[in-house]
Amino acid sequence: MSPPIPASREVPAAPGPLLLDTLGRPLRDLRISVTDRCNFRCVYCMPKEVFGKDYAFLERNALLRFEEITRLARVFQRLGIEKIRLTGGEPLVRRNLEQLIAMLGELPGLDLTLTTNGSILAKKAQALKAAGLKRVTVSLDALDNATFMRMNDVDFPVERVIEGIDAAAAAGLGPIKVNMVVKRGVNEHGIVPMAKFFRERGHILRFIEYMDVGATNGWRLDDVVTAREIVAMIGAEMPLAPADANYTGEVAERWRYTDGSGEIGVIASVTQAFCRDCTRARISTEGKLYTCLFASAGHDLRTLLREGASDDELEQTVRAIWTRRSDRYSEIRTSQTVQVKKIEMSYIGG
Ligand code: GTP
Ligand code: 5AD
Ligand code: SF4
Ligand code: SF4
Repeated sequence: MSPPIPASREVPAAPGPLLLDTLGRPLRDLRISVTDRCNFRCVYCMPKEVFGKDYAFLERNALLRFEEITRLARVFQRLGIEKIRLTGGEPLVRRNLEQLIAMLGELPGLDLTLTTNGSILAKKAQALKAAGLKRVTVSLDALDNATFMRMNDVDFPVERVIEGIDAAAAAGLGPIKVNMVVKRGVNEHGIVPMAKFFRERGHILRFIEYMDVGATNGWRLDDVVTAREIVAMIGAEMPLAPADANYTGEVAERWRYTDGSGEIGVIASVTQAFCRDCTRARISTEGKLYTCLFASAGHDLRTLLREGASDDELEQTVRAIWTRRSDRYSEIRTSQTVQVKKIEMSYIGG
């Protein structure tokens, strides 16, 4: 049995000096995947040929329970975590997610956010806000249904995602960020229309270079539209100027419209790796700790939790893992590393 979660809202100060990895990077952000399932089959993430009817998703008992997630969150907070982002798969398909948000919302001083495909956000936005969620980021790859449906591969209409974004804004889940993964020849024609649309709506659109995550999306360097190209395309119509990062380790490079009408971001993990400032750890749906998005193996925390490890033991385990961390995949990506079998994005949550 794991020890009960104390009622106290006090978080003990991180004992000892700041936790740094072998490259001097602190542990600041935790991304927790709450389900490996998704109602979309985006071609670059969960291609239908692999994630078909017979695909074996995790059994319910394999998933970390809400109490287990909350307990890990508390332990990670002691180690310096300031932000938690819930991911998936699609996090909103996990039943009673509001309950988990309410539990995590009890942790003081935590920036609690979520990345979603927006498909059921219209229905859930109010409840998520009421439960204590601070902000949302919505993934949306196109505004025209022909392209969007081709990318989500389940004929999901774009209007319902826009409704979700509007509902999130109305519920106070802003500033809202929208993530667009750009794949050459598929949705690059939507770059400027997307920029115009979200500039008008006042949301922050970020363009993500298509990455070689996982082993199923058949990634090729030729499919990547670079951040430089994207900034140039938009800047040609709506002048842009570089803006400072909001915080060290922010993955998006910020650009503001010079007429003061807002900003965009580019996430250039392929052409301008940002590993040097990477402060992110990830916990998979079944409780494995990954210290890089491109890792091929994780560290099993669920067994420790279920075998009755104390908070101090959990903390020491994570401390030891982070202290040994040397990941910098995007900086050392080569045609060989691209071939290595890595974990899937839908399992580790981007
Ligand atoms: P905020 O700064 O709070 O908005 O969070 P974020 O930008 O880290 O979160 P989000 O989930 O929107 O991340 C955007 C995308 O950037 C992810 O979905 C990934 O595609 C990519 N990304 C995030 N973190 C990393 C990382 O550590 N390495 C790489 N290579 N890509 C990352
Ligand atoms: N490359 C870049 N971004 C990706 N995402 C999913 N797969 C990839 C990929 N191969 C994005 C999603 C979402 C975020 C969690 O990661 O669209 O915005
Ligand atoms: Fe689902 Fe997001 Fe993957 Fe698309 S990118 S299949 S919405 S988890
Ligand atoms: Fe961090 Fe790995 Fe991404 Fe580099 S590739 S930024 S180390 S998650």
